[in-house]
Amino acid sequence: MKRDTSNTWLTGPVQANTYVSTADVIIVERQRTIKLLADIFRYHFGGRTGLRVLDLGGGDGAITGYLHERCPDNAFTLLDGSADMLAKAQRRLGGRDTVFIQQTFEDYLDAPPEDQRYDFIFSSNAIHHLDFIDKSRLYAKLFRELAFGGAFVNIDVVKAVSERSERWQFAMWEDWMNERLAQIGGEVSTHDGLPEVAKAKPENKPSGLFEQLELLRRIGFRDVDCFYKYGVFAMFGGTK
Ligand SMILES: C[S@@+](CC[C@H](N)C(=O)[O-])C[C@H]1O[C@@H](n2cnc3c(N)ncnc32)[C@H](O)[C@@H]1O
Repeated sequence: MKRDTSNTWLTGPVQANTYVSTADVIIVERQRTIKLLADIFRYHFGGRTGLRVLDLGGGDGAITGYLHERCPDNAFTLLDGSADMLAKAQRRLGGRDTVFIQQTFEDYLDAPPEDQRYDFIFSSNAIHHLDFIDKSRLYAKLFRELAFGGAFVNIDVVKAVSERSERWQFAMWEDWMNERLAQIGGEVSTHDGLPEVAKAKPENKPSGLFEQLELLRRIGFRDVDCFYKYGVFAMFGGTK
């Protein structure tokens, strides 16, 4: 499958280092959505253990680590296309029972599916690097690789429904970053303009929330819903 040469995550360490040091400021409600992800996992699976969990675009392993601490005795797999992020994940999680796979989403899509190999699949701020067609292919493959009774949750940036609504939501994003910077004693306005800069980068291809919910439904997911949304940052998914 074609490789997205504009995707700077796959070409060097710059993104990896910048992201890890700023994620809790530039990603709106990152800690809240991570907590909600673990909550959904607990509510959905109860006290079950031995579950197979896939973190797609898992980066430095912060979220897999969080889930592992709260829900141990499950088998975690972290897939990411960036050697630099994966190295960070291995340093963070090395001692724990986690399988690391260096693979791009594009190569993952090309590999033959293995039916029902995971119970829980999640992703955070990564799938927006695929265009809508490839998101469709990815969600269909994830559905196939999910076990019956399993669940999929995606935390990601979504495209606003109109230019007007995008203006408000980009303003909400900037306000949020400035609130965070003020809280942690950082210099306010450091990231003003970031939403427009992110929008202009060809590697970012967010799709609409409604379109993605509809897609999940059409593929066959049940309980399809948006579990949280703040501006263009959303958390959505479904069960099988
Ligand atoms: C913004 S980071 C998020 C990392 C982690 N999920 C988190 O929330 O902390 C995006 C991650 O997606 C990975 N990524 C981006 N495009 C990818 C692709 N086409 N194939 C595989 N991984 C990709 C990057 O390497 C990076 O680790």
